[in-house]
Amino acid sequence: MPLTVPSRSKLSVRSHPDSLFNFLVQRVSFVACTFILTLTLVSAGLTAPAFSAEKVELSVDASKPGAKIDRNIFGQFAEHLGHGIYDGIWVGTDSKIPNTRGIRNDVVAALKAIKVPNVRWPGGCFADEYHWRNGIGPAAKRNVTLNPNWGGVIEPNSFGTHEFMDFIDQIGADAYISVNLGSGTPHEAADWLEYMTTAQPTTLAKERAANGHPAPYKVPYLGIGNESWDCGGNMTPDYYLSQMKIYSRFVRNFNPAQQDNGQMLKIAVGPGGDEPRWTEWTETIMKAHQQHTWSWDISGLSIHNYTVVKWPPAYASTGFGETEYAQILKSTLEMDALLNTHSAIMDKYDPQKKVALIVDEWGGWYAPLPGSNPGFLVQQNSLRDGILAALNLNIFARHADRVRGANIAQLINVLQAMILTDKEKMVLTPTYYVFKMYAPFQDSTFVPVSFNAGTYTHDNISLPRVDALAAKDKDGKLWLEITNLDPSQPVEIEANLAGVTAKSASGETLTAPKVDSVNTFDAAKTVVPKPIAASVRGGKVSLTLEPKSVTVISVEQ
Ligand code: AHR
Repeated sequence: MPLTVPSRSKLSVRSHPDSLFNFLVQRVSFVACTFILTLTLVSAGLTAPAFSAEKVELSVDASKPGAKIDRNIFGQFAEHLGHGIYDGIWVGTDSKIPNTRGIRNDVVAALKAIKVPNVRWPGGCFADEYHWRNGIGPAAKRNVTLNPNWGGVIEPNSFGTHEFMDFIDQIGADAYISVNLGSGTPHEAADWLEYMTTAQPTTLAKERAANGHPAPYKVPYLGIGNESWDCGGNMTPDYYLSQMKIYSRFVRNFNPAQQDNGQMLKIAVGPGGDEPRWTEWTETIMKAHQQHTWSWDISGLSIHNYTVVKWPPAYASTGFGETEYAQILKSTLEMDALLNTHSAIMDKYDPQKKVALIVDEWGGWYAPLPGSNPGFLVQQNSLRDGILAALNLNIFARHADRVRGANIAQLINVLQAMILTDKEKMVLTPTYYVFKMYAPFQDSTFVPVSFNAGTYTHDNISLPRVDALAAKDKDGKLWLEITNLDPSQPVEIEANLAGVTAKSASGETLTAPKVDSVNTFDAAKTVVPKPIAASVRGGKVSLTLEPKSVTVISVEQ
């Protein structure tokens, strides 16, 4: 069976004058970076490496809160692809692997700990070939189909609507359902939503009850197609728009009292980069939205952007050196310019920012692990990926007024995964730990932080030495995240806080011996967070960041 991997234009091969690097370097700052000549001790009694530490001052003004950092930027994506669903989530009720109604207990426990806000399902490219009726009813009677997108393997359909809803219920997440616009019909999608959401005794609701779930399900997020410009049907923007309007009109949610505004968020397919064809796509959808009538509307526009550097993905996910580390991080920082470009177009047609920009596929996409099925997109996950995740989450948070959702690709065993499994074994990746450390930022309020990032240069690649994010949680507690991108030099941080009186500060830091350090089934604790304490004097918080580290601290007042 031939493998087909969706073609992709140079998604991340962009250089942009508005890159995050320039933004940070040019940013207003009260401070300067100075080398200090003494060796230093890292907080919490850790001995710092024998390097001089760069000093970076942060200015945090908690009296000027910004937008809410929507918890949905920490969303996940689970596609029927490789071992993402089967083996990763679903092992079946007869499995010896401990499970609840066929869903792995170890995976559920791990995901509960990172407070997953929503899971996008069933794809991806798979969504535009998915026919929901194959995945309901008695397991033994379900149609067995193929998965032509991803290795051409058998799709048993054992994991369907009820199993997905059970899974997200077990982990405490919301459903983000992508309906089939490519090879399906509005009728099929409308029936699916009626099946899932109506409380009325319709034939479809009775069928749902007969299949074990009398109460209607909640579907707060609806994706109308996926990459309709490519694997979703190679549509032009105008053609997609005409289709999308029909889905927006007829695919109804009958259980709408589930969100703050009582509405399901309808998310249109958006761009996959910032070349002219992508800006044209965003222009087309947003211009139409500006003129929408009562009969159709969207409340979200999706955007996909992988860190891939060149297509097809060729970078190794482990066993790489500092040059590849710096190249990948430089590429990932281009996310900021991409969001600037498309946010500006959206602002033109939607100055009130009613339509959310949802980055519902992002992450590092590397060469498949040697020996794996190339259609399964299996890769390792290194410290570099943890840092990559932190940088992107910070970018999303800085765009919090427009970016109100994001879904990293993908949840388990596929691309930049949270979790890797092999039969009964499970290992948590560096990216998982970053999501765990960032949990306090969910639904927090952005707090401005200014700093001169300094520069880390390797092989003519220049990057900001540090990145930082600040926010206040619902209880008013201040949280700081600081990333040290430099793989060799520690950084001394001094944070000047306005609007809060700091008494103490502590948290966790994630680093490892090498930029390509990974967790494996045999050595699962190579890249795990460890405690870090900061000193507080005169309202200033000071701490030393280890090289190549992600640190989150909370400030007690
Ligand atoms: O995440 C893997 C694939 O990448 C998705 O199926 C598709 O939407 C994108 O091209």
